[in-house]
Amino acid sequence: MMRSIAIVTGATGGIGERFVKKICLMDDIDEVWAVGRNKDKLGSLSAQDPKVVPIEADLAHDGVAVIEDLLSGKKPDIRILVNNAGTGYMGPFEKMEKGSVTDLCKINCSVPAELISLSLSYMHEGARIINISSASSFQPNPYLAMYSASKVYLKNFSRALNVELRSRRITVTAVCPGWVDTGMLPRTKDGKEIRYTGMIDPETVVDKALKDSSKGKDMSVPGFFAKYFRFYSKVTPSNIVMSQWTNSIRKYL
Ligand SMILES: NC(=O)c1ccc[n+]([C@@H]2O[C@H](COP(=O)([O-])OP(=O)(O)OC[C@H]3O[C@@H](n4cnc5c(N)ncnc54)[C@H](OP(=O)(O)O)[C@@H]3O)[C@@H](O)[C@H]2O)c1
Repeated sequence: MMRSIAIVTGATGGIGERFVKKICLMDDIDEVWAVGRNKDKLGSLSAQDPKVVPIEADLAHDGVAVIEDLLSGKKPDIRILVNNAGTGYMGPFEKMEKGSVTDLCKINCSVPAELISLSLSYMHEGARIINISSASSFQPNPYLAMYSASKVYLKNFSRALNVELRSRRITVTAVCPGWVDTGMLPRTKDGKEIRYTGMIDPETVVDKALKDSSKGKDMSVPGFFAKYFRFYSKVTPSNIVMSQWTNSIRKYL
C-alpha cells in the first residue's frame, strides 16, 4: 500500500526538528523523512519516534539525488514537503568565501525548487508545501545581502507557485519569521552578548506555519515583531529601513 509521507529538510536543527516532532503526531502521516547531515541527531530523532525515517544527505552536494532515488524506489504519497534547510552568512559580502556563495545559492534557492519539482509527481489533492523564508525577505539587508535576497526569492517563488498549483489543490506557504531561538544565530561577539529583538521559539513558528498552510495561506508570519516589521517595511522608504538595519547590526560585524 502507498505510504503517506512528509519530507522535512534541515530536520536536525531548531525549526526543522520541531516540524518533524509535530508532523509525527499527525494520524494521516505514516512516515516523516528527516533530511540532514548530522548522523547522530538523525539517529536520535528516529530513536524518539518510529515514524521518523532518517535520511543522511548533504543538500549542497548530492542530497537531492539521494532523495530522488528513495522516491523512485518507494513511490510514496507526499502529503507535506517542508523546505526548511538553510544557511546564512552575516558580514561584508566581499569577505564571503566563494564556496559559501555557491552553497548558499544552492541550499536556499535551487534545492527547494528541485525538491518541489521532484515531489509534485508524488503529490495529490490536499498536499502541502511549506518553504521557510524569513522576515529578512521584507527589505534588502546590507551585510546579510545574499541571505536576504535568497529569502525574497523563496517567498516570491512560493506565492506564485501557490497560484499555479491551485487547480491541483496543492498549497504553497512561505514562512517568514523574524529572529528564532535556534543554533543558527551566534550568541556572543567579542565576549559580548548579542541581543535579538523580538526573538521567538521554533514551536511558535511551526505551529503557525502548519495552521496557516492547512488554511491554504500563501504566507505565514509568526510573532508580533515580524508582523510589525512587514508593515513597517511596506510603509517606509527602503533606504531608511536599510540604514536603520545597518546601524543596528554594525556593532556585531
Ligand atoms: N533562526 C532564525 O533566526 C531564522 C529566522 C528566519 C528564518 N530562518 C530559517 O529557518 C530555517 C531553519 O533554520 P534554523 O534557524 O532552524 O537553523 P539551524 O538550527 O542552524 O538549522 C539549519 C538546518 O539546515 C540544515 N542544513 C544546513 N546545510 C545543509 C546541507 N548542506 N545539507 C543538508 N542540510 C543542511 C542543517 O542540518 P545539518 O547540519 O544536519 O546538515 C540544519 O538542520 C533556515 O532556512 C533559516 O534560514 C531562521
